[in-house]
Amino acid sequence: MQKRPRVVVNVEASADGKVALTRNALLMHRPSSELWASMTPQSPDSVAIDVMESVRQRYGCNAVLEGSGSLVSEDEIPARLPTYDGDPVGLYEHFLPVDVIEQRSPLHMWFTVVDSRGRVRWTERHENWDALVLVARSTPADYLGYLRRERICYLVVGEERVDLSRAVAAMGTELGVTCILSNAGGGLNGALLRADLIDELHLKLAPALVGGLGTPSVMDGSPLAVGEFPTRLQLLSAQSDAAGAVRLHYAVRRESGAERP
Ligand SMILES: NC(=O)c1ccc[n+]([C@@H]2O[C@H](COP(=O)([O-])OP(=O)(O)OC[C@H]3O[C@@H](n4cnc5c(N)ncnc54)[C@H](OP(=O)(O)O)[C@@H]3O)[C@@H](O)[C@H]2O)c1
Repeated sequence: MQKRPRVVVNVEASADGKVALTRNALLMHRPSSELWASMTPQSPDSVAIDVMESVRQRYGCNAVLEGSGSLVSEDEIPARLPTYDGDPVGLYEHFLPVDVIEQRSPLHMWFTVVDSRGRVRWTERHENWDALVLVARSTPADYLGYLRRERICYLVVGEERVDLSRAVAAMGTELGVTCILSNAGGGLNGALLRADLIDELHLKLAPALVGGLGTPSVMDGSPLAVGEFPTRLQLLSAQSDAAGAVRLHYAVRRESGAERP
């Protein structure tokens, strides 16, 4: 059986584990982007670590992963799409046209987004990224029709929602992806955790507190069942700078029941 791609999570959080300032303010928009950056003051001894470059060199990482929540806030109503009036049957098959796949960007990297509700509008393209959307059988036909018109690749992996285990496996078998770097927020990272798909975690902690019940954190998703073991980690490296930022790199420990305390 083919090994699934490695999944590495890369996330920046406040010292209390929050990955955003509040639920509905995306970090990519001002003023949140500036407020967030202000939590990590420059320090002469800070080591600039490019996690993407490091996983690319180490594992040949060729996909990054985002949730729709990084690009569209929950209270935003995305622009209406034209009604799809063709036969919807063929829409619910993977869309990986050869001409698109063969015209890969110079620094090829799949920019992958989980979006079963069809909320992301692809208004920007990046010369070094190739877009890939993970959708489900519940995804509106209008959205899949839109992705096809825009020549954006997608994989249909799941029924009500994207089945993350199937999605990661399909990225390996259909596209030859060997390693995925998740730059997502707590919703998607928490779901990856529950699906036991995370292999490594790069966590950068800013010397600041955000607080707030409901503010996205490093790993959200469904709670542990009573009596269920938390996921244990092995520390691979730890660095701090004079301004108080801390960088931690962990591997996920996969133990049998007998090894557990
Ligand atoms: N500090 C950082 O490093 C960092 C990084 C990224 C984002 N952020 C910030 O974090 C916030 C977004 O975080 P968020 O937690 O709201 O969004 P998120 O991480 O994008 O989580 C929502 C996404 O996860 C998917 N998802 C959630 N549970 C799932 C499951 N069980 N199975 C399959 N898919 C599942 C959703 O899919 P469906 O839509 O299909 O349901 C959606 O695409 C934003 O403010 C953003 O700016 C911070």
